[in-house]
Amino acid sequence: MKTLKYLFDRNLAWAASIKEKDPEFFSQLSRQQAPEYLWIGCSDSRVPANQIVNLPPGEVFVHRNIANVVVHTDLNCLSVVQFAVEVLKVKHIIICGHYGCGGIKAALENQEHGLIDNWLRHVKDVIRFNEESFKGLDHAEQLDLLCELNVKEQVTNICNTTIVQNAWKRGCELSIHGWIYNIENGILKDLGACITSDDMDF
Ligand code: CO
Repeated sequence: MKTLKYLFDRNLAWAASIKEKDPEFFSQLSRQQAPEYLWIGCSDSRVPANQIVNLPPGEVFVHRNIANVVVHTDLNCLSVVQFAVEVLKVKHIIICGHYGCGGIKAALENQEHGLIDNWLRHVKDVIRFNEESFKGLDHAEQLDLLCELNVKEQVTNICNTTIVQNAWKRGCELSIHGWIYNIENGILKDLGACITSDDMDF
């Protein structure tokens, strides 16, 4: 049996360092969570939500999947969104992609990868919706562009969910943001794709 003891050692040291700064931290947090942000990002190990924005436990509700895709039939993602919006009442949903995304790269190329190709069809659709934009670009430029366009597409998708539409109809203060993270320098960029209920015509 492998027990990964070193990870438990790291956990004890981490919990101790937090309690040293704030002895009540965990007991207070255990009573409730009230995050203002829902983060939908890529599963990539280099893109950890809390660390990138330097927020402690309790501040960010998180859903991650390969290539940060919001699919209207994905009960997992939709359940996270519903809980975040209707129960936690988050004020912001952040869709965060990243440059150099392996999922996006795989969607751009015509190599078979098995099961995951079905998931990546959603990213291939983004290429189809924006075919003109890719003409004349080299592979690296196409990859960067697809990483960005995929975020914008997922922003549109989440805005069109019944959960977000109904939240806006109820007058909830809820903004949807499209961001991209650069794994080469650790810097986040806002893609200027923020949508609020003011942008909707009810
Ligand atoms: Co990725």
